[in-house]
Amino acid sequence: MRLILFGPPGAGKGTQASQISQKYGIIHISTGDILRTAVKEGTPLGNLAKSYMDKGELVPDEVVIGIIKERIRKEDTRNGFMLDGFPRTIPQAEALDNMLGSEGLKIDAVISIEVEDEEVIKRISGRRVCEKCGVMYHIIYDPPKNNELCDRCGARLFQRDDDKEEVVRRRLQVYRNQTEPLKEYYKKIGILQSIDGTGTVEQVFGRIDRVLQSLIEKKDDFFKEQGRD
Ligand code: AP5
Repeated sequence: MRLILFGPPGAGKGTQASQISQKYGIIHISTGDILRTAVKEGTPLGNLAKSYMDKGELVPDEVVIGIIKERIRKEDTRNGFMLDGFPRTIPQAEALDNMLGSEGLKIDAVISIEVEDEEVIKRISGRRVCEKCGVMYHIIYDPPKNNELCDRCGARLFQRDDDKEEVVRRRLQVYRNQTEPLKEYYKKIGILQSIDGTGTVEQVFGRIDRVLQSLIEKKDDFFKEQGRD
């Protein structure tokens, strides 16, 4: 299965991606995570990306398209993958279509997690991430047992540089102006599945799970029909 997890910053894409991976074993590819690793390592890509990320702006298309091209060529994506944070512009979506199309492949579904701006701000301002193992918490909705330390590995938790309120507001603006129009792009192709992103993590996952189950059933029916012909 090839999926795109779509939605505003803080909608819960990363949280839901980890639930989907656990249940379905689908490889999770997050451009945000790839860029943050490059920033941490201080590579030329990381230094370039940081200058955009800290302001809440998008990293240039050619840079992220190159990253995805390289990533989805790897062997572990052969049976599918789930993109989180890509595509974010029309040129990125077109580039993805071209990459997959040249291999006779396509995206099965775009799952758009719908959350209002004020909820996004609440979610992002409370987010804390483990500096060592990357596990994510929320200081109110999913707090660590020991104040500012990770339950899993005991390391310190930190707040992302781009999670400050003024940067979050800019990220939301960028999402509404440059990324949200992609919903129309995928709606036209008939693969957009919008789901309500409010409620608990489990409630949201339940809605996504129903979409995935119905996709799997449709695929099974398709292959059965092919077998009958
Ligand atoms: P990226 O890392 O992709 O950030 P984002 O899309 O802004 O998304 P977030 O990671 O902030 O949120 P999320 O939706 O994953 O929510 P999460 O699950 O963490 O991108 C960062 C930057 O990199 C961009 O601004 C850009 O500069 C650059 N970039 C990346 N991709 C790019 C591209 N393709 N093109 C150009 N530039 C690119 O949840 C958030 C919080 O809410 C957590 O604390 C979580 O515990 C909590 N939470 C989750 N679900 C729930 C729930 N149901 N109820 C209560 N709390 C919840």
